[in-house]
Amino acid sequence: MSVEAHDDSAVIRVRVPAKLNVALHVGPLDDNGYHPLNTVFQAVSLYDEITATALPDGDVQVRTADAEWLDGPDHLAVRAARLLQQRHGITDGCRLTVRKTIPVAGGMAGGSADAAGALVACAKLWGLDPDPEDLTRLAAELGSDVPFSLLGGVAIGTGRGDQLVPLLVRGTLWWVLVFDEAGLSTPQVYRRFDELREGGLGPRELNEIDAELLRALAAGDAEALAPLLVNDLARAAVDLHPPLARTLEAGREAGALAGLVSGSGPTCAFLARDESDAIDISNRLAATGRVVRRVAGPVPGARPLS
Ligand code: C5P
Repeated sequence: MSVEAHDDSAVIRVRVPAKLNVALHVGPLDDNGYHPLNTVFQAVSLYDEITATALPDGDVQVRTADAEWLDGPDHLAVRAARLLQQRHGITDGCRLTVRKTIPVAGGMAGGSADAAGALVACAKLWGLDPDPEDLTRLAAELGSDVPFSLLGGVAIGTGRGDQLVPLLVRGTLWWVLVFDEAGLSTPQVYRRFDELREGGLGPRELNEIDAELLRALAAGDAEALAPLLVNDLARAAVDLHPPLARTLEAGREAGALAGLVSGSGPTCAFLARDESDAIDISNRLAATGRVVRRVAGPVPGARPLS
């Protein structure tokens, strides 16, 4: 089908947030090469922006905002657009421009954000109005974190992290992110997690999410939440990238309530009491030469900007 309704001159812009895992419990590797998770996601105010414009011939192209062309068919945004074309019988194409702020291979679902953004942008560009559940199923085919990038807010994730239950929470939490020049490969971090567990280091089974943590989140109570933050992948991330241990220490020295490796790392997130505390912590961390960013959460998932 060729889409009659679309406007060739249309430019669709979609903003997609990064995520933190406030809790991340990891179970033993399953037969499909994945680990079962019990996690709590929070979307935070660090965004990638995906712009989609029409191409008439079915081609899908992707580039960064500074016009650098990215690897074609393997890019998650391209795979997202192709999947949508295929499932909806679309013969039109698109050019996707990705303005990145979320670090690549940083543990904040940067690649997943681009896939979620491409799904939302292309659906709008091609005049589709997919059922949210259908879009979530497509998202899960693209990657475990893509459904949450679509949804945003706060959610419990089970399965591979793709089965979501949204949580209603009050208030805003303030975080200071510390970026790392290095990237960490998610599969590699999971492999190291398996090795450490085999060596007796790490949880033997999949732990449940602490009810106290959910209560603290629901109440927006940073002080109560701080001691409950947990990430089973942190040890593996630090093992693969030892400077992370020093970063976590620096966050505590800078006055954070608690520090956390974000997902599979290496980005670290430090919880502040409130916005002004976050400013103080980020100033102190920036003074140590680290690249920092203050963010707040929760924020909505992938949304068109106009
Ligand atoms: O789902 P996604 O393609 O983002 O996952 C990338 C890799 O991360 C998987 O191939 C797997 O090695 C690892 N992974 C895992 N367990 C999960 C999610 C991801 O082992 N729940």
